[in-house]
Amino acid sequence: MDVVVVYESKTGTTRRAALAMGDEFFDRGVRCRTYPVKGVDPAAVGEADLIIIGSWVDGLFAVGQRPGGRRNLERALGVMSGPEGTTLQGKRVALYCTYAVAPGRTLSKMEALVAELGGEVVGGLAIRRDSIGDGAARLVAAVADLSTV
Ligand SMILES: Cc1cc2nc3c(=O)[nH]c(=O)nc-3n(C[C@H](O)[C@H](O)[C@H](O)COP(=O)(O)O)c2cc1C
Repeated sequence: MDVVVVYESKTGTTRRAALAMGDEFFDRGVRCRTYPVKGVDPAAVGEADLIIIGSWVDGLFAVGQRPGGRRNLERALGVMSGPEGTTLQGKRVALYCTYAVAPGRTLSKMEALVAELGGEVVGGLAIRRDSIGDGAARLVAAVADLSTV
C-alpha cells in the first residue's frame, strides 16, 4: 500500500488539505508521501498504488473555473508520466480541488488531463476552503480501500 499526494497550492490551503490527507493515511497505517507539483518525485509516483492530485480553483468566482496553476500541474503530470508517457498508464488517480465559493467544472477539467495520460480516475472531491479537515477525511475514507493491494 503506497499513496502519493501531489498538490498545486498558491496560498497554502490545498497544501494543508494534502498534509491532512497524509495524517489520515498515517492513522490507517498506509504509507503516504506528499509533494508540491514542482517537487514531485517520479520514482515515488512509479511505486504508488494510488495517486491523489490536488489543485486550487482559479476563475471569476462563479464562472470560468479551472484548476489553478494549470501549467505547473501539466508540467508535473508530464514528469509523472515519464519520457515514455506511460507511468500514469493504468494508475489509479483520485482528484481534489479546494475552492472559496463554487468549483465549477474544475474536477472534470483535471480528470481530462489525467485521462489523456492514461490514468484511471477513481474519485474526486471539491473541498470548500473552510472545511479542509472534513474534506480531507472524506476523500481518504472514500479511497482508502482502493489503496489496499
Ligand atoms: C486568482 C484566484 C482566483 C480564484 N478564483 C476562484 C473561483 O473562481 N472560484 C472559487 O470558488 N474560488 C476561487 N479562488 C479561491 C481559491 O480557489 C481558494 O481560496 C483555494 O482554496 C486556494 O487554495 P491555495 O491556498 O492552495 O492556493 C480563487 C483564488 C485566487 C487567488
